[in-house]
Amino acid sequence: MPPATIDVSTEPAIDPMAVDMQQVDAVIRERLASRVALINQISTYIVSAGGKRIRPRLVLLFAQALGFEGPERFELAATVEFIHTATLLHDDVVDESSLRRGRATSNALFGNAASVLVGDFLYSRAFQMMVSISRMRVLEVLADATNVIAEGEVLQLMNMHDPDLSVEDYLRVIRYKTAKLFEASARLGAVLAQAEPAVEEACATYGRALGTAFQLVDDLLDYEGSSDALGKNVGDDLREGKPTLPLLLAMQRATAEERELIRRAIEHGEVEGLPRIIELVRHTGALDATRAAAEREADAARAAIGGLPASKAREALLELSVRAVHRSS
Ligand code: IPE
Ligand code: IPE
Ligand code: MG
Ligand code: MG
Repeated sequence: MPPATIDVSTEPAIDPMAVDMQQVDAVIRERLASRVALINQISTYIVSAGGKRIRPRLVLLFAQALGFEGPERFELAATVEFIHTATLLHDDVVDESSLRRGRATSNALFGNAASVLVGDFLYSRAFQMMVSISRMRVLEVLADATNVIAEGEVLQLMNMHDPDLSVEDYLRVIRYKTAKLFEASARLGAVLAQAEPAVEEACATYGRALGTAFQLVDDLLDYEGSSDALGKNVGDDLREGKPTLPLLLAMQRATAEERELIRRAIEHGEVEGLPRIIELVRHTGALDATRAAAEREADAARAAIGGLPASKAREALLELSVRAVHRSS
């Protein structure tokens, strides 16, 4: 009799990191505590809504791939999630967004002032946590990353409503505002493991490329995703007049008349034009080209870790690079 087989395609996916991620969640919950009730209320509100927790996963996977098993990895994983959450609180104020993680944004519910200030609390709590690791290199990596993220957000602000933004300048913004924290998260796994400089750079390269792919797809999903799956409103970028790659590429490929339509939408920020613009980014092939750009970054991410020793963690990193591109949420 042939042995009983299990059809893996119908088995629920088993996440080998589930237990470690629970530990990260425990640290997150513990470190949220404040003497001020409104801080607890808002920070718990946004953190308990979930999120994909990709950045802490990077810290853990790189630490594991390089053989580091100390408890500092949980503290640092929670630290990068705090920095990420602080940027989300600030970003939703700046972008005037009303939906995040399937819920009303904190700014919609508690107001801009409270969101900005609680974002500052999470930022500075993250600094208290990273100092507790007592490693100068950790401080260096995260001080640089947070500084670059702020530069990215300000650069982006300066680029608003500019239909003449170059692809190069767009890429600079996403490397700063998003890829930098992915890079830092990956690098920190290597720093914890006291990896050789070349290995640390390989991890950082993976993080930077993955983060770039991730933001390219975020910008794509703003046109072709669903608000339900994403837990945030689609069309926000156009509403704000944010010149992202789908629009920049559509302008390169469109007729003079269509180009004018997109230019005006970027200059004025439009909701009424959204269906027509979605049609344009689709039929000019701009969405496919954006996805192809994300694929190239994901390829670069995979290539960067080709030299790491084979392990379950490295497999998970390869898989993560595939999911970062082929995602709907
Ligand atoms: C949202 O990041 C901000 C971007 C960089 C696009 P995530 O998509 O990782 O947000 P959560 O944490 O899963 O909600
Ligand atoms: C997010 O950029 C970047 C940071 C949080 C620093 P977006 O504005 O595109 O992110 P979403 O779409 O609001 O999540
Ligand atoms: Mg935003
Ligand atoms: Mg977005």
